[in-house]
Amino acid sequence: GSGLNSLAKAAGKVYFGTATDNGELSDQPYTAILDNINEFGQITPANSMKWDATEPTRGTFTFSGGDQIANLAKTNGQLLRGHNCVWYNQLPSWVSNGQFTAADLTDVIQTHCGTLVGHYKGQVYSWDVINEPFNDDGTWRSDVFYNTLGTQYVPIALKAARAADPNAKLYINDYNIEQQGAKATAMLNLVKQLQADGVPIDGVGFQCHFIVGEVPGTFQQTLEQFTALGLEVAITELDIRMTLPATSASLAQQQKDYQTVVQACMNVKGCVGITLWDFTDKYSWVPSTFSGQGEACPWDQNLQKKPAYSGITAAL
Ligand code: XIL
Repeated sequence: GSGLNSLAKAAGKVYFGTATDNGELSDQPYTAILDNINEFGQITPANSMKWDATEPTRGTFTFSGGDQIANLAKTNGQLLRGHNCVWYNQLPSWVSNGQFTAADLTDVIQTHCGTLVGHYKGQVYSWDVINEPFNDDGTWRSDVFYNTLGTQYVPIALKAARAADPNAKLYINDYNIEQQGAKATAMLNLVKQLQADGVPIDGVGFQCHFIVGEVPGTFQQTLEQFTALGLEVAITELDIRMTLPATSASLAQQQKDYQTVVQACMNVKGCVGITLWDFTDKYSWVPSTFSGQGEACPWDQNLQKKPAYSGITAAL
């Protein structure tokens, strides 16, 4: 096959994948591409495994949305990435507004991660156990987890995830760690500390929510700093947005940018795969999040391939 996953696998990668979401799965022209193993060998639920979706009230778990995507991956013969266990965002208010002692929040994290990861035991290639722990200046994000437990919430979650599914690779995932700087250094130091303490950590996810014309030049170097520690790395949420309306020049620059980003992963042996944060502009999170920006994906609103698609294949 000549699709993205076929090409990536032929070049030695574990997968080329995409995020998807439950509401999109009734769109038959969309799923015809999503389900094509030649294009996508891995899928990631964009929302339905998050805390607000899976444990909306304490101790009550709802897996219907996540199960739909896990079952789709199984049907299609695709790998699954779990996203995510512990994140400051999309938390139910019982967590974000909770007044917890350290012991109680430890129990909450262990129960959430253990139950979530355990539910999908044997089905998940890798879990984003911790999502977005750092501020852009490399300091720890002030959230209920850090404010109650300090940095200890990270090993608590990782150990609970390992116990629940010993075969899933455990990741920490973040954005703005692609370029050299305080945030990448903070992530590197965290991983080194976890390794020194014997805490299970297998990978670091680089989200790669980029802007056309602003792909960081030090990305490959950063990936290599992490693989030098014996970790695997992955591009977990790739999209490259632009100011609207798109022009032929901005679409051509986007093609180059996709090629540059994918090439960085190809050049690093420990970079196992690439995930688009959905493959089509029809379902991208970008326009509703970044005002005036969009067209961030390799397929357009009408599910037609854009120049960006050729940028990817040129690197694979
Ligand atoms: C986004 C989803 O794509 C949206 O549908 C949702 O409204 C907000 O979250 N970093 C992450 C992802 O780790 O979970 C986010 O996904 C995008 C940014």
